[in-house]
Amino acid sequence: MVIKKNIKSKLTKPKLTFDRLGQISFTLKEVTKIAFKVKPRLLIAVFVLNAIWGLSSVPTFYLEKLIIDNLVKAAGNPNWQPLFYSAIVFTGLLALLSLLRSSLGGLNGFLRRTLSRYFDGELDILMGSKISELDLATIEDPDFRDKLDKIERESGQRAWGLMMPLSDIPNYLVGFISSAGVLLLIHPLVSVGIFVVSIPSFLIDSKFIKKEYELNGELAPKYRVWGWIGHYLTRNRNFMEMKILRISNHLKEKMGVLINEILSKQTSLHKKRELYSFISSLPLTIYDFAFSVLLVFWVIVGKITIGSLQFYLRSLRNAEQNLSGLVSSFLEIYENYIYVADLIWFLNLEPELKGHKKSIQLAGKRKSSIEFENVWFKYPRSNKWIVKSADFKINQGEKIALVGENGAGKSTLIKLLGRFYQPQKGKILVNGVDLEETDISELREKLAVLFQEFEIYPFSAKEAIGYGDTARLGSLDEIKKAAQKTGIDKFIESLPLKYDNPITPEFEKGVRPSLGQYQRFGISRVLFRKDAQTLILDEPTSNVDPEAEEKIFKELVKITRDKILIFVTQRFSTVRIADRIFVMHEGRIIEEGTHHELMRANGKYARLYNLQAQAYKI
Ligand SMILES: Nc1ncnc2c1ncn2[C@@H]1O[C@H](COP(=O)(O)OP(=O)(O)OP(=O)(O)O)[C@@H](O)[C@H]1O
Ligand SMILES: [Mg+2]
Repeated sequence: MVIKKNIKSKLTKPKLTFDRLGQISFTLKEVTKIAFKVKPRLLIAVFVLNAIWGLSSVPTFYLEKLIIDNLVKAAGNPNWQPLFYSAIVFTGLLALLSLLRSSLGGLNGFLRRTLSRYFDGELDILMGSKISELDLATIEDPDFRDKLDKIERESGQRAWGLMMPLSDIPNYLVGFISSAGVLLLIHPLVSVGIFVVSIPSFLIDSKFIKKEYELNGELAPKYRVWGWIGHYLTRNRNFMEMKILRISNHLKEKMGVLINEILSKQTSLHKKRELYSFISSLPLTIYDFAFSVLLVFWVIVGKITIGSLQFYLRSLRNAEQNLSGLVSSFLEIYENYIYVADLIWFLNLEPELKGHKKSIQLAGKRKSSIEFENVWFKYPRSNKWIVKSADFKINQGEKIALVGENGAGKSTLIKLLGRFYQPQKGKILVNGVDLEETDISELREKLAVLFQEFEIYPFSAKEAIGYGDTARLGSLDEIKKAAQKTGIDKFIESLPLKYDNPITPEFEKGVRPSLGQYQRFGISRVLFRKDAQTLILDEPTSNVDPEAEEKIFKELVKITRDKILIFVTQRFSTVRIADRIFVMHEGRIIEEGTHHELMRANGKYARLYNLQAQAYKI
């Protein structure tokens, strides 16, 4: 037998580059791609408007120059009127320009906020749909969970942090180019100088951003524990137990220590960052001072007018501001690099258990079947065989009960049948087709499973049952029939909104069903899944009262007359309906037969059965 490769080893890590430019361009590209996919027109509008805003600053400075030059010429000039009038015209133009700028600014802010909200929403959709595609082994992997938690925790804040700098880039770029163009008129070296003196602060900032990544990576597991404690402290399902155990104080203390540890590390890094960025800004301040002195000298010797001094100084400051804005936008984007790299890695993950396209559809009069051929399985990251040498065949119409102690591997066997994991040895065949070759979605369409840890859908009673087959969510009559089969219909009819009633108190008019009632919802959901060839129920009635249990099993037998029914149970009262009983012990099926056969064999089954029967006799 070939031992198949462990799934975990295939969970590739995201590719990280440590070349800064590579990281910036990667992040820019990927984020623009997502934003473009969400709202292309909005993104273009934001870019264009921002560029116009950036372009509008130099004309403002030029108008200011003209006004000042006119005023200087007019002062003490007997022929001042024409100069005064043109100054008024320039001032008017300046006012118009500033009106344009402020309305552009408002519009831009609005569009950016809208874009970032859509971006946020799109991320939620993308992530949700990706999770539904991935394998259970991947989703249960702790590394994967850490990364996903990080992505989820940061996603809201990151969407904003990515959109803002991205949309600012055209503004800063155009602003810088136009102001630097003005400085070129003086000397090309003036423009180059700004670049040179900005380098220290760029280097320092990017160094600290990298340090912050590293720190965040180091703190990620701590954040995770923080999140879990917060969850336990506020989740009311645990409220009663926590009150009795009085663990709130212990948890609060634990959380306090964690928060302190996380925040003190972050604060000390932030302090250093502030200090270094102050020092790194000094060259720019000195450069600015030297340039101002030169311009003042030129005014005095009559080389330039006072208006030009103002024009050049304003252009220099604008170039400086735009350059530093541009650099910090790039750095902000770069700051999101790890997040975006994780996100893109996550969005590009592919399920390992792909399956092929072989159909399990039954042609002609062939009957459905499930076969396990010497199947061995252990969970990823574990060395213990959980299913050992499972070898059996179940035919259409058969009802199989699976019994055995806790941890024997019953639920695992069911998960293997749903192809949620890949066995390391052996084969599982459905209708004669190896699961490795089947079309997984088709396989799952033919299955109706109520897992031991089944889901509670709180939206409405109708949906809690109808989700068994979303295509038939509109058939209320059928939903009602499925509800009748488990007897949950009486409970639903008693609710104020009946089938539209939410089944969690968190929604308006919502109620909280009891555990057994929830279980009946779950079974109804499985029964509503009409096209399933196989029904699997993992301890479906563990919380259901005996009367309802009997009714439910009667229904199950009726419904599955020409289907396969597999159910796990700890109650021997229900086992008798099975055609065959499999007794599992430490991963092996150690006994197999009808109730009478197993009783006669006087093995484990007989012992367990007598144990329960005895308890009732006392
Ligand atoms: N996702 C998992 N990852 C690692 N080990 C697991 C996982 N799920 C189950 N196991 C282990 O596999 C063993 C069998 O678990 P399984 O849930 O199949 O038992 P079971 O027979 O259904 O028990 P129960 O009667 O308690 O439902 C247990 O020892 C359990 O610790
Ligand atoms: Mg189980």
